[in-house]
Order: sequence, then structure tokens, then C-alpha cells
Amino acid sequence: MQAIILNESRELSLRLDYPRSPPGPDEVVVRLQTAALNRRDYWITEGMYPGLQLPAVLGSDGAGTVTDSGSETGQRWIGREVVINPGLSWGPDTTAQSADFHILGMPTDGTFATEVVVPVQQLHSRPAHLNWQESAALPLAGTTAWRTLFTQGRLKEGETVLITGVGGGVAAFALQFAVAAGANVWVTSSSDQKIKRAVELGAQGGANYSVDDWDRTLKKEAGPPDLIIDGAGGPGLNTLIGIAAAGGRIVSYGSTRGAPEHLDLFRLFWKQIHLIGSTMGSPEDFASMMQFVADEQLRPEIDEVFPLTNGIAALQRMKQAPQFGKVVLEMTQDS
Ligand SMILES: NC(=O)c1ccc[n+]([C@@H]2O[C@H](COP(=O)([O-])OP(=O)(O)OC[C@H]3O[C@@H](n4cnc5c(N)ncnc54)[C@H](OP(=O)(O)O)[C@@H]3O)[C@@H](O)[C@H]2O)c1
Repeated sequence: MQAIILNESRELSLRLDYPRSPPGPDEVVVRLQTAALNRRDYWITEGMYPGLQLPAVLGSDGAGTVTDSGSETGQRWIGREVVINPGLSWGPDTTAQSADFHILGMPTDGTFATEVVVPVQQLHSRPAHLNWQESAALPLAGTTAWRTLFTQGRLKEGETVLITGVGGGVAAFALQFAVAAGANVWVTSSSDQKIKRAVELGAQGGANYSVDDWDRTLKKEAGPPDLIIDGAGGPGLNTLIGIAAAGGRIVSYGSTRGAPEHLDLFRLFWKQIHLIGSTMGSPEDFASMMQFVADEQLRPEIDEVFPLTNGIAALQRMKQAPQFGKVVLEMTQDS
């Protein structure tokens, strides 16, 4: 099969003849049509992801058709169009993942390939209203946004929610989900154009976080947010504690800017802020997210589509984060 491999020296290459492993008893082979990029893939190529085990085929998100099964278990899926839940071995506890939890695409070979082998329980039917590109865009970022907003963030209709860095894949889903849930949604971004796009998608407004005093302006316009969804972290976390409503919730799902050097503990406890962590999502989160997307007929924001053969350039482009929403890879099924 064709695949993008990251080798032991963390060099990326496109292989046209990479051998795929045969499916185990509870596994199936999915012939992929599309895959999508996540910041995780970029962190792995930079050596900034815990537990690196290389070589590996990168890629967590994928959509395609089931072509083979390792046993009777997966036979009923053969010929069906699917999306893959990339969260493997979550475990029985919905409040947090088990110690065995890992994400498809390192160490397990992932979706930047023409085929992938996954456990049959990771399969979900492809949403009928989405095309192949949109289907692959959904799994990792959609599940993360879902759990962050609803399971951990307990968002309620009519609340004010602030979503930081709206150009990000997770943030763009959080925006769409929160608007569909009837919240008053505000955003931040480094780009006025991205804020404009967020408003077209239903946000009330936003602030450019690269401008001084953006937080004061936003608080004046939006009022203090009941819920803040943040994937950036860094010193900005203290700014978010400053603008959150008293008794409000801040859910952190990422730390693109690293950890803050100090935490504004005084304002955290004085304002009775709930600081909550969130990672990916349980199988229940994944299923609820898929159902919500189908019920609300939501369509993921696709920023750009690259052929798999140009996937390395797509990964390298992540350094600048110019995107709004998801970057997708398309396979040419000729091998
Ligand atoms: N816990 C989990 O399960 C989980 C799952 C997915 C992702 N993550 C983490 O969450 C983060 C985002 O992931 P992603 O895949 O959505 O990334 P992405 O699509 O690459 O988006 C990154 C976005 O971060 C925003 N950003 C950068 N600096 C910022 C700042 N100072 N303040 C606010 N926003 C800032 C930018 O938004 P603008 O372009 O609008 O400026 C950028 O587009 C990453 O750290 C990732 O590792 C965690």
C-alpha cells in the first residue's frame, strides 16, 4: 500500500510499497478514501509527543470502505462505508480513559495510507449527509470538541461560551456544536479573517488575541463567559481566568503554547472557577457526537485538500497554522 512513514530518525517519506499487516481476529481492513490531519501528527514529527515508537504510519482520522475481516466478527461490515473512531482501548470508565488508551497513528499504524487495519469496534457508518472529505475531518477533532463542550464543560443552552484559537480543528467544531446547542458563542483568533468566518458560522463576535488588551474589549462586548474552551494554554490561561464569569468553567484540551509559568491561583479560587481537563472522548462521546452531527446536519469546515502523495507538504504547512478547520488528504486508489 501507499503510506506516509515517519522513521526512527523522524524523517518523513512516502512509500509506494509499504507492507500492511494482516487483520487480527477482531480486526478489519479499511480501504481509505480520505484522511485528515491533526496537530498531534505535527507534534509527533517534531518529537514532541509522549511515548514515541517509530517507525509508524501517521494519521488518526480516516474514512473508507471495509474490504476484509480477520474473522466472522467483522464480516457484516465488508463493503460498508465507514469512519473510524481513532480512540483505542478507552476502557470501561466514561469519566477518564484507561492506562491502555492510545490514538490510532503511532504506535499503531494510522490513516495516512491507502489502507489501515483497525479493531471492528472502532467502525461507525459514514454520515449520509457528508462527502468523503468531511467524513474524514470529523473523528478526532469532533470527539474532542464534543467532550470538551458537553461532557466536561456541561454547556447549557443560552450560556455564553468563549472558544479560543477558532482557526484550530477542534475549535472550529466547538464553534459549530455550541452554536447548534443554542449558546452565545464568542471566539478569539490571531486572524480577523477567521473571526469573520466564525461570525458567518454563528458566533456573536470575537477578539484578535495578538492585539493588546483583547481580553478587556471582549469582556466588555460579550460579558464574562460562563464557559471557556481552550487548547492553547501558556500564559494566556491566566488571562482566561481573568475574564471568566465568577463560578465559571474553563476546559483545557491542549497546550499549544505550553504550560503557564505560574497559575493565577488567587483569582482561580476567589472567583470560584472550575478548571477542567479534557482528552479525546469515550466511545459514548464519539457516538453522541456522530448522532448530533447527523441530527443537526452539520458539515465540518474543510480548509484544504491535498493528495496523499503531497501529504508531507500538508504536514509541514501545520507549522504556521494558516488553516480554518481541517486539512484533508485524499487517496488515489491505484495501488
Ligand atoms: N486533549 C486532546 O485529546 C486533544 C485533541 C486534539 C487536539 N489537542 C491539542 O489541542 C491543540 C489544538 O489542536 P488542533 O488539532 O485543533 O490544532 P490546529 O488545528 O493545528 O489549531 C491550532 C490553533 O491554535 C490556535 N492558537 C495558537 N496560538 C494561540 C494562542 N496564543 N491563543 C489561542 N489560540 C492559539 C490557532 O488559532 P488561530 O489560527 O485562530 O489563531 C491555531 O489555528 C493542540 O495543542 C493539540 O495537541 C488535544
